[in-house]
Amino acid sequence: MSIPPQINSSKPHAEPLVAIQLLSACRILVINGKGGSGKTTVSTNLAAWLQQRGETTVLVDADPQGSASYWLSSRAPELPNIFGVKIELNSRITRSFQWRAPKSTRWLITDAAPGLTGPALDDLIQNHDLIIVPVLPSDIDIRASARFIGELLLTRSMRRQRRPIAVVANRVKQQTTAWERLQKFLLSLNIPFPARLRDTQHYVRAYSEGRGIADYPQQSHERDRNDWELLLCWLDAQASPSQWLDDPAAEDVDSDATNAS
Ligand SMILES: Nc1ncnc2c1ncn2[C@@H]1O[C@H](COP(=O)(O)OP(=O)(O)O)[C@@H](O)[C@H]1O
Ligand SMILES: [Mg+2]
Repeated sequence: MSIPPQINSSKPHAEPLVAIQLLSACRILVINGKGGSGKTTVSTNLAAWLQQRGETTVLVDADPQGSASYWLSSRAPELPNIFGVKIELNSRITRSFQWRAPKSTRWLITDAAPGLTGPALDDLIQNHDLIIVPVLPSDIDIRASARFIGELLLTRSMRRQRRPIAVVANRVKQQTTAWERLQKFLLSLNIPFPARLRDTQHYVRAYSEGRGIADYPQQSHERDRNDWELLLCWLDAQASPSQWLDDPAAEDVDSDATNAS
């Protein structure tokens, strides 16, 4: 029997929880092999944008560091409510097919742990529909991210069904050679990079206040608000729930889940 994951949410919910592979939601995996690339910054901000639109959004904290859960716990009750699912390191809920979320979930965003490889990486990909890889534009990070994206593309799940991938170039300082190299690298892989986030203390402050850029008044943070527009368009263009429900791989996951419970 599986243990229900801990739900952190600023408001109580009365909805039944269902396994994530049965949701008619778009499930987004935010991942990079390296720590510090901006996974939590991207996950929390995306959750804030999507919930601001009034679409039920779940933030899954799959990193033992718990940064996404801490952000949720800092969120003021008057802000749009985001459901939180915390995956405990020592629980039996580490396999993603055992995760549960409210039935009405439209968007599920997973803030992944760094350093995942092999079956753990494959398991996560199998239960998500889209992949976002935040990359820092330094030589070390570009090399590490190139290796990581290569590994992603070779996982069993990706070879069976290629999920759309987008890169978010994070902490970009315009006109640097590192940024130019990053663009060349992404173009060579034919991977879109619909967002570049500025290197700004706005993100540091937003995290500590339990907010995303979306949660500030329209007239503030204008440059940073604009940076998210293309990424949100990209998500909307990819997200077609019926496509995920028809996925034959989902049937395999169902039987895996049944066998495991
Ligand atoms: N665009 C940005 N501008 C300034 N600081 C940033 C930006 N993105 C991330 N940071 C800061 O960099 C650190 C690492 O980011 P984080 O999102 O926690 O990375 P990860 O989850 O991949 O480890 C955090 O202190 C975060 O506030
Ligand atoms: Mg993190």
